[in-house]
Amino acid sequence: MKVAIIGAGYVGLTTGACLAHLGHNVTCADIDAERVARLSKGEIPIHEEGLAALVNDGLTNRRLSFVVGAANAARGAEIVFLCVQTPQGEDGAADLTYVENVAREIAPVLAPGTVVVNKSTVPVGSTRYVQRVMSEAGASTDHVTVASNPEFLREGQAVRDFLEPDRIVIGCEDPGAAVRVSELYRGIHAPLLVTDPASAEMIKYASNAFLATKVSFINAIANLCEAVDADVREVALGMGYDKRIGFEFLRPGPGYGGSCFPKDTAALLHTSLKAGYNFDVLHGVVDVNRQQHERMVDKVRVASGRELSDAVVAVWGLTFKADTDDLRDSPALVIASRLLEAGATVRAYDPIAGEQAAIRMPGLDVHADPYDAAAGADVVALLTEWDEFRWLDFNRVREAMRHPAIVDARNLLDPSAMRRRGFVYDGVGRR
Ligand code: UDX
Repeated sequence: MKVAIIGAGYVGLTTGACLAHLGHNVTCADIDAERVARLSKGEIPIHEEGLAALVNDGLTNRRLSFVVGAANAARGAEIVFLCVQTPQGEDGAADLTYVENVAREIAPVLAPGTVVVNKSTVPVGSTRYVQRVMSEAGASTDHVTVASNPEFLREGQAVRDFLEPDRIVIGCEDPGAAVRVSELYRGIHAPLLVTDPASAEMIKYASNAFLATKVSFINAIANLCEAVDADVREVALGMGYDKRIGFEFLRPGPGYGGSCFPKDTAALLHTSLKAGYNFDVLHGVVDVNRQQHERMVDKVRVASGRELSDAVVAVWGLTFKADTDDLRDSPALVIASRLLEAGATVRAYDPIAGEQAAIRMPGLDVHADPYDAAAGADVVALLTEWDEFRWLDFNRVREAMRHPAIVDARNLLDPSAMRRRGFVYDGVGRR
């Protein structure tokens, strides 16, 4: 099928490259001409395993192309995916400005029978809203249908999550349009749920909010384990064997971050406020998450053995999770900025995002390797679970430090091994 993707960001680029891989003819549009030029040469600005290869395959076999301007891609397309950003507004609501602008831009050029698909994470009720915006802009409702097809891509494994999804969700009032959208995914073996638009939109928010709930829950259990001398690794293991709970998303840490959980939980809280429902559980999830960042700062203070105002802290890992270059809403950056505010000297290292972080946070002293970051430090704060931190020479780290202490906010290291090496060790919910 002839497909247009509007927005060549993380979701749009992955969607376009994978649909081309599935045999469709894909034109991907962005407003950023420089980005379009780089993509047309196969230069991928985001760190996603397998994506560069898929984009270059698509370019080579001419199934994938990049253009500037949404209308240029939408013209003649059978299916048009809206993959533009829906940032969090001041009041927590998802900002639909970009979606509206694009809907107005493409409406006049759409051929009758085109299906416009919301791929971006949009509030419940947005499909109907986009349909209205497009009708006002000249796309008659009996010609153009709008559907919801939420994405469930995790950063760092987006290509795998697209090609091997746990489920495909399509929300559309028009069964014929739903069938056409589902045909795009021919070749992918996964449960297909066709439902109404509002339910499809709610599935996305409810799924992310539930995953965030699991993270905050295990963080709270970890904090309680510290008070009762239990070990959260053992507890999570014992919980996970229950198939109703599972082992996934039960790793305690500094709190969740990234471009989705914080934004989507805020948007769902805004939706519930507007609906007159007090979503207490979700308020608790967000509060626990915010407190977890602060709890890490206090752990660093205690482990350093001195007031933060005269402590040197080495921060290992700045991205919101390992195997991504994404710093958006990273707990590590929140914690690093709290440490700087408290007067600490912060020496940071990240395997791939150090330079980006230094630009975002001028006060951050970024180093080229973890040993250099640890030089003269009173404590190492391991904030992101990069695998390389497991395999460091910790005798060398201890020699470099002024005071051998480590706050392992991701429970990446073995407490007894670290203590045998002479470190003061503190994890999250570890004995
Ligand atoms: C998430 C959802 O998983 C994905 O389905 C959705 O489409 C987008 O949002 P992502 O934000 O890329 O994906 O990251 P994810 O791997 O889900 O982790 C989210 C946050 O939770 C990260 O900060 C991570 O460090 C944290 N996390 C995750 C934990 O602290 N503990 C866990 O056990 C799992």
